[in-house]
Amino acid sequence: MLTYLYHVHFQCLIDLNFTAIDMNKPVLPGLKFSQLNIISKLPDVGTTIFTVMSRLATENNAINLGQGFPDFPMSEELVALVNEAMKNDYNQYPPMPGWLPLREAVAEKIEFLYRAKVNPDTEITITPGGTYAIYSSLTAILQPGDEVIVFEPAYDSYIPNVEINGAIAVKINLVFPDHKSDSYRIDWDAVRNAITQKTKAILINSPHNPTGSVISAADIEQLRSVVKDTNIFIVSDEVYEHLIFDKLAHQSILRYPDLLQRSFVCFSFGKIYNCTGWKLGYCVAPAKLTKEFRKVHQFNAFSCFTPTQVALTTFLQNREAYLGLSPFMQEKKDYFKQLMEQTRFTMHESYGSYFICGSYGRISDESDKDLAIRITKEAGVATIPVSAFYHNSKDDKVLRFCFSKKKETLEIAVERLMKV
Ligand SMILES: Cc1ncc(COP(=O)(O)O)c(C=O)c1O
Repeated sequence: MLTYLYHVHFQCLIDLNFTAIDMNKPVLPGLKFSQLNIISKLPDVGTTIFTVMSRLATENNAINLGQGFPDFPMSEELVALVNEAMKNDYNQYPPMPGWLPLREAVAEKIEFLYRAKVNPDTEITITPGGTYAIYSSLTAILQPGDEVIVFEPAYDSYIPNVEINGAIAVKINLVFPDHKSDSYRIDWDAVRNAITQKTKAILINSPHNPTGSVISAADIEQLRSVVKDTNIFIVSDEVYEHLIFDKLAHQSILRYPDLLQRSFVCFSFGKIYNCTGWKLGYCVAPAKLTKEFRKVHQFNAFSCFTPTQVALTTFLQNREAYLGLSPFMQEKKDYFKQLMEQTRFTMHESYGSYFICGSYGRISDESDKDLAIRITKEAGVATIPVSAFYHNSKDDKVLRFCFSKKKETLEIAVERLMKV
């Protein structure tokens, strides 16, 4: 019976003139399927260590101190506001640059925090996350062959974002903590030496992922002197603006009108409100720069999820919700650092972000990647090897830990790490 059906079906195909595809038969003269090849714009990008570690964490039922996200719930009030916005039918496309009342609320916040007057209509664009804002800024300004100064260790999107535009990432290593500073810092002489006629931009990030270091007022002075009388743009990644410790003031580029003139300053609501999965942020830049930024944005995402924008407009009025984040997260950082004293890691200082780094010279001379994998499998705690943040996998024998977790998560993780 089956043979019969198969025969009939096959006969139909033949009758209808269907033929099996011969992969080697030319489709157009001179083009074979087997020759259809993408010339990668990012040939060096493979599966990242972040994917590897997260997969390992799941497979080994490990506590994930690798990826940077909170394991506690976000504000119920903000969730309710999103619900309300959806019920009130704020569900269609918002304007391309973002929901105007939200941009106005952001402008108000910027004036309150940094004494900067920013025009919500022409200088703020709501984006699907901070990473997207950084990518769009670079895409707006870069031409093939341009150079962008990037500090390493670097958040993993920076170099691909530069290279996909045909530009060149000029990498400068941050100085490893030493007797002069207990956290990583910028070597400004190295920056001066790296500037060429082709330098189009400097990309800075404070508070810094992965090291937890922050830029000081003295760094701003150095930056000012480096870019003075040049056409160099600044792309400033400030997604951790509200995660800064020890009562330090966040040195936002928004505080400095002369620097802001040449800057794209990128933020993330996901990081402020413990909802990294929302992928919502914004970019502040002078009108002339914003105009070009929006050309990129218009034909990429075009606009972002409306209900969250409507909800955030109301929620931003609650200043305590963002001002309270630094002390809240500092408590976690201090607690984790103190717990880690029971292990053989030597912890660095973290002045901001979700992250703190630890050297493991007293534990092993394995590569940081091997150790991170072994700890995930044997101890059940996933971390990120800091070599992953260097294009050449520079291995200083340091692991990055994310402490934006519940107290009990941190306690169990450290109990396990004590056995390493
Ligand atoms: C330094 C830095 N910039 C940007 C981002 C991404 O922000 P968003 O999730 O809003 O794209 C992250 C997230 O980990 C980050 O660490």
